[in-house]
Amino acid sequence: MARRNVFYAQSGGVTAVINASACGVIETARRHRDRIGKVYAGRNGILGALHEDMIDTSRETVRAIAALRHTPGGAFGSARYKLKPIEESRAEYERLIEVFDAHNIGYFFYNGGGDSMDTAHKVAQLGRELGYPITCIGVPKTVDNDLPVTDCCPGFGSVAKYVAVSTREAALDVASMARTSTRVFILEVMGRHAGWIAAAAGLAGQGADEPPHLILFPEIPFDRKGFLRRVQQCVERNEYCVIVVSEGARDADGHFLADAGTRDAFGHKQLGGVAQEIATMVRDELGLKYHYAIADYLQRSARHIASAVDVEQAYAVGRAAVELALAGQNAIMPCIVRKSDRPYRWVIGQVPLSRVANREKKMPRRFITRDGYGITAAARRYLEPLIQGEDYPPYRAGLPDYVHLRNHPVTKKLA
Ligand code: F6P
Repeated sequence: MARRNVFYAQSGGVTAVINASACGVIETARRHRDRIGKVYAGRNGILGALHEDMIDTSRETVRAIAALRHTPGGAFGSARYKLKPIEESRAEYERLIEVFDAHNIGYFFYNGGGDSMDTAHKVAQLGRELGYPITCIGVPKTVDNDLPVTDCCPGFGSVAKYVAVSTREAALDVASMARTSTRVFILEVMGRHAGWIAAAAGLAGQGADEPPHLILFPEIPFDRKGFLRRVQQCVERNEYCVIVVSEGARDADGHFLADAGTRDAFGHKQLGGVAQEIATMVRDELGLKYHYAIADYLQRSARHIASAVDVEQAYAVGRAAVELALAGQNAIMPCIVRKSDRPYRWVIGQVPLSRVANREKKMPRRFITRDGYGITAAARRYLEPLIQGEDYPPYRAGLPDYVHLRNHPVTKKLA
């Protein structure tokens, strides 16, 4: 059978471990040279295919590809670009197939979240319709941890670890000076519509009096009065109060507390700034001194404190994508199946793309305490295994030694 090439692309917000998935894809494909030609990566994600702007990963050394495993960010560039429904934008899909055909692409591995799984699914459908044989496999990734079916999403475990560690550390700082200085510290974390990252901060402490004292989840409508009362009580009891707020926190009408007013190409509102909203509220209503921090990109790029479990899973889904494709599977996503909590045991399973495309998994209510401000024992059982182990990158001259690929372009063949 003639060897066909791979097109691999990164999509959406990048993570500390998305390159570990790329490493899994490329290393595994290289081990199957008898059946797979080259791995081409999209420069800036799917745009790379639409613009016939691809990177030839075969020009990279074994060492450089191996170093992707410990390098954060998206090594080939990622994009927030959603292909419209086939009926509205057939030309775009046909262009993809045209580029794939010109470069003998037989495998499409799309590394992203729910929107990207939808695109991979549509490309599989169109390939069938146009009689162009293409194997489409989704490679899961999202710090938001909101893909359904899979136990967790690569990228999440490392963000979870970063916010839990940062919450624990910042809380020690606030506690030290609470009597004479700052009383309230607020950490804003990502998570758009789902509170998984905010919940992970809850791992920093155990009981009600251990920080974080209050967590604001997108799943629980924000109650201003009740919240301020809780802050006041917490300060009276502990001298200080540590609050973790999800960027996706909403009021009872479903409006985000912080909406930056812009939207990305997926149509998602840009969020950010809720920590300041909360801080102002605390100052104006309670007269308390505060500090706040927005974890923002620091949280999803923090490879220096990545979870070893997360790194391993990110690599494993990349490897599985290639192996499943070679086993004849199509239009599926490898997923993580939890076998037990303690010890954490997991295996790789698979799920049809149609079951994960465009779906968001929120925090179940049983993971949030009755009062709506904390995490339950069930949530801890779920979250704890995902932050286990450290996988430090190598350091040189005091800094992590991350790889910069050469990213050689593939010669264009089309107009
Ligand atoms: O990828 C998910 C996410 O990290 C969200 O939690 C966050 O709201 C968003 O990306 C930020 O996206 P961007 O980097 O495109 O502004």
